[in-house]
This record gives sequence, C-alpha cells and structure tokens, in this order.
Amino acid sequence: MRIVYVLGTRPNFVKTAPVIGALRARLPEGRHAIVHTGQHYDRLMSEIFLEELGVPAPDHMLEVGSGSHAQQTARVMERLEPVLEEEQPDLVMVPGDVNSTMAAALTAAKMQIPVAHIESGLRSFDRTMPEELNRIVTDQLSSQLFIHSPEANDNLHAEGVPAERIHLVGNTMIDTLAALEDRFRAAGAATRLGVEPDSYALVTLHRPALVDGPLLPKTIERLAALASEMPVVFPVHPRTRSMMEAVESQHPGLLLCDPLGYLDFLSLLADANAVLTDSGGIQEETTYLGIPCFTLRDNTERPITITAGTNTLIGLDPAAISQIPAALAQRPANPPDPPPLWDGHASERIAEVVVG
Ligand code: UD1
Repeated sequence: MRIVYVLGTRPNFVKTAPVIGALRARLPEGRHAIVHTGQHYDRLMSEIFLEELGVPAPDHMLEVGSGSHAQQTARVMERLEPVLEEEQPDLVMVPGDVNSTMAAALTAAKMQIPVAHIESGLRSFDRTMPEELNRIVTDQLSSQLFIHSPEANDNLHAEGVPAERIHLVGNTMIDTLAALEDRFRAAGAATRLGVEPDSYALVTLHRPALVDGPLLPKTIERLAALASEMPVVFPVHPRTRSMMEAVESQHPGLLLCDPLGYLDFLSLLADANAVLTDSGGIQEETTYLGIPCFTLRDNTERPITITAGTNTLIGLDPAAISQIPAALAQRPANPPDPPPLWDGHASERIAEVVVG
C-alpha cells in the first residue's frame, strides 16, 4: 500500500505524527511518503515540531510559504499534483482544517485518489472562518472520515455523508500529548521563563478575527490588566507579532516570548493556572490535561471541550477577560475525565481502518 501524508502547519504535524507511526508499524513494507507544503516554514513553527515528534524528514517539500488564501491554496495544488503523479498513492491522508488540508484533498480527489481526513466533522457553523470552509470541502471530498466526538457524526450526517465513510476513532492530537507526557512533565518551561508553576495565565492568539483588526490592542490592554493579578505568559505567533508591531501596541507586565517548541509549550500548558486562547487544538489539550481554558471566540467547532471538558467560551469582547480571576475561583476542584476515546490510541484505530 502506498500512502501520501500531506502536512503544512504546526497543528498538522501534531495530529499526523502518531498516525504515520501507527501505519508504518502496521505496513512496514508500504510506501509512506510525507509531503510538507511549507505553509509554516519558520524553524519554531515547523522543523522543531517535526524533530520533537519524531516525524521522518519529508520526502517532498512544496515550499508554498505565506500568501493570500487563493495563492496558498493554488500553490499547494499546483505543486502537489506532480508529486501525486510520481508517488501514485492508494490513499492521501490529510489532517485538520488549514489551507494545505483543503488544497491537498481537492488535488487528490480530482486525480481520483481516495482521501482520508483526520479530525473530520468539526463545525463552528461560522463560514467567515477560513477553516470552516476548509473543513466542509475536505469532508465532502474524503472517503474515510476519522472523527473524535459524537457531534462530528451528527454534523456529517446532516451534510449527507454516508455513515460507512465515518469512523469514530478518538483524538490523534491526544495520542501525541499522551506519548510525550513524561518528556513535557520534565521540561520545566515555566521555571526557565521565570514563573512559578500553577501561578500564571498562558495566552495564545492568532486568529484573524482577533488579531487582524481593532480587537487586538484592546485585548492586549485587558491582558496587561490581568497581569496585575497573575503573571501572563504569551508566546506570540508570527502573524500576531507582525500585527502587534503594526499597531505599536504597548504590553506592560506581559511576559512575551517567541513561539515555543511543542515540549516546552505542553510543559507551560500543563503547569498553567489558566489558559486564554483562540486556538482549536488548545481547547482539546486543556480538556485532556484538566486545565481551565477560556476561549476568546464567539463559537467553537469543539463543543465537547465545553460539555465534557474544562473550556469556557467567553466571546470576542476583550472586556470578558476581566472576569477570569472570579471564574477561576469558582472552578470545581476536580476536572472531568477526558471524553471517551481521547486515550492515546486513536492512531492505532485509524491504522486498523486503513489496513482493513
Ligand atoms: C494557519 C491556519 C489556522 C491554524 C494556524 C495554526 C489557515 C487558513 N489557517 O493560520 O487554521 O490554526 O495555521 O498555527 O490555514 N508566518 C510566519 N512564519 C511561519 C508561518 C506564518 O512568519 O512559519 C506568518 C506570515 O506572516 C503569514 C502569517 O503568519 O502571512 C499567517 O500564516 P498562515 O499560514 O497564512 O496562517 P496562520 O495564521 O498561521
């Protein structure tokens, strides 16, 4: 069997690494070709992740880089087509919801190569989010849809996806997290950054709705106010960094740093008192780790992190940040158990389905 895995961004690496490992173990004689689209390309956004996750060096680098949505999507399609012609895969595996995901699914489907989608079926029902469009298109084009929560099944069913294509396997991002647990628990990132474990808020922001407009300086202002109550650690995504520079935002009291490798990031996450984020994956990681998470968005495609986890949707209005200390004081002492099948073995279940 010949499988091509197409990866482009930081969260793609985390979601796919254990699936590549599980399929290589099940099909040692198979061809497992890794394509890196280059949507993320800085060392701290890409290489360090591949190293820490033990992903083999990519077989094909497409080097699409940054650009508008159409440019990025078109470049992936143009450059992936000859790779698929050369590799002649039986299956193209794509994770998540980024531009690289959708572009790869479309390229493969047009070449009549079956597509498998990891983390299928999530919906925010907000089509202003580029990821929502990527999810809808990718799911429509996929022949194997791997889901990690029951609502994904409902969403796909409502869009007419035949039940036999849908496989509830669990969460591959949690596979990676569980596999790295000993290493990140020993990483001591908080101490290296000069903050006490269990004392600080960890912040990540990168979505256009929050960082590309007037909400960013207002959010930074509220975070600075929060910093007078607890240390606020903020590893800054390159997109956010350039927007902060553009508006010359002041950030008194915030502990800003460059993007972190995955082990250091998980170490900071596991030792945080609270997490403020607009990321999708972090809503899931905090659910697994039992860390209070406050999501700065109006919606989430991951409602299970609210109903069965530790996530609270506080909306886009930065004023809500001031309510976090009071909300933390009212948190139950014992967080809930992670959702079913978020158990470190989702990738093995995917391999089982693929091998058949
Ligand atoms: C992308 C995904 C988003 C995902 C996020 C994870 C899409 C539409 N968006 O957002 O869903 O949550 O990745 O991090 O696919 N940049 C660098 N170095 C890099 C990568 C990006 O400096 O290695 C800067 C560039 O200025 C670039 C900007 O970040 O223009 C945005 O990068 P892009 O890949 O377009 O989107 P993200 O915001 O990273």
